Amino acid sequence: MKGIILAGGAGTRLHPITISVSKQLLPVGDKPMVYYPLSTLMLAGVRDVLIISMPHDLEGFRRLFGDGSQLGMRIDYAAQDRPNGLAEAFVIGADHVGDDDAALVLGDNIFHGHHFYDLLQDAVRDVDGCVLFGYPVEDPERYGIGETDDRGRLIALEEKPARPRSNLAITGLYFYDNDVVDIAKNLRPSARGELEITDVNRRYLAQGRAKLIDLGRGFAWLDAGTPESLLQAGQYVRTLEERQGVRIACVEEIALRMGFIDAESCHRLGEKLASADYGKYVMSVAREFGGSAAGRSAG
Ligand code: DAU
Repeated sequence: MKGIILAGGAGTRLHPITISVSKQLLPVGDKPMVYYPLSTLMLAGVRDVLIISMPHDLEGFRRLFGDGSQLGMRIDYAAQDRPNGLAEAFVIGADHVGDDDAALVLGDNIFHGHHFYDLLQDAVRDVDGCVLFGYPVEDPERYGIGETDDRGRLIALEEKPARPRSNLAITGLYFYDNDVVDIAKNLRPSARGELEITDVNRRYLAQGRAKLIDLGRGFAWLDAGTPESLLQAGQYVRTLEERQGVRIACVEEIALRMGFIDAESCHRLGEKLASADYGKYVMSVAREFGGSAAGRSAG
C-alpha cells in the first residue's frame, strides 16, 4: 500500500502565522504537526509515502524527512499549485500509487486512541473499495458526513450539509483500492470548484464498496486548523505525554516498533536530537530494545 499526506492549502484561518510557514510544519506539542499523520500511515504499515504541499513549502518538509531512509521508509515530495480539492491528491500522486492500494491522510488530522494500531491493521487487510473512519462531532455541518442504517452500514455521504442528517463526521483518513486513481482522474469540480473526496467516496458507496469504521467516543480525532484548535491539540498531546511518560507520534519510536529500523539506528536518530527531551526519549526507547547504550552498560 502507498501513502499520501496532503499537506497543502493556504492555512488562511491561521494567518498571519501561516503566511511564511506551512500549517503542517507548526508545532503540536513538541513536534511538527506532520509527524501525526505520518505516524498514522506508519502504524498502518505504510512505508512508501508521498507528501504533497504548496510549491514554496516543499523544502521545509524535505529538510525534515529527506528521503525517509533514516526511518526505514521512502518519502517523496510533490507540489500542488492551488488547493483544488482533496481528491487531486490522486491525480498528482497517480505515478506514486502505481498499481497499488492507497492511503490518504490530511496533514492536519491527528488521531489518537486505544487499539488504533489494531483498527488500522484491520482496515488495510484486503481493501476492496474504500474504508472510511467516522467520528461523532457536535458541529457536523463543518465536515463530510456519513449516514448509517440501524446496523451501522453506510447508506449516504454528504459534504458539509447545511442540515446534517447525522453527527458522524468522516475523518481525513481514507483507504482505497487502486480504482481511486481512475475515479479521481474522471471527477468534475464541485460547485465550490474543488475535486471533492466525498464525490470519490460516493462513487464507491454507489458500488456497495464503501466500508465505515466508527472510531467512537473513546477516541481523539483533532484537526488543528485554527489558533484555538492548534493550542488545544498541543495541550492534549502534552497532557497525555507528561502524565504517561510516553510520546504520541514519535516517528523514530514507531519506526522501531514497526520493525522499519533496528534499535541501533533508532539510537543514532535520538543522539542527533540529544539536546532536546524528544531526542533523549528516542534514545531511551532504543535502549529498551537493546540499542547502543544498553549494550555498553551491559558490557
Ligand atoms: O478533516 C476532515 C474533513 O476534511 C472531511 O470531513 C471533509 O469531508 C473534507 O472535505 C475535509 O474538509 P475540510 O473543510 O477540513 O477541508 P479543507 O479544505 O480545510 O482541507 C483539509 C486539509 O487539506 C487542510 O489542511 C488543507 C489541505 N488541503 C485542502 C485542499 C482543498 C490541501 O492540501 N489541498 C487542497 O486542495
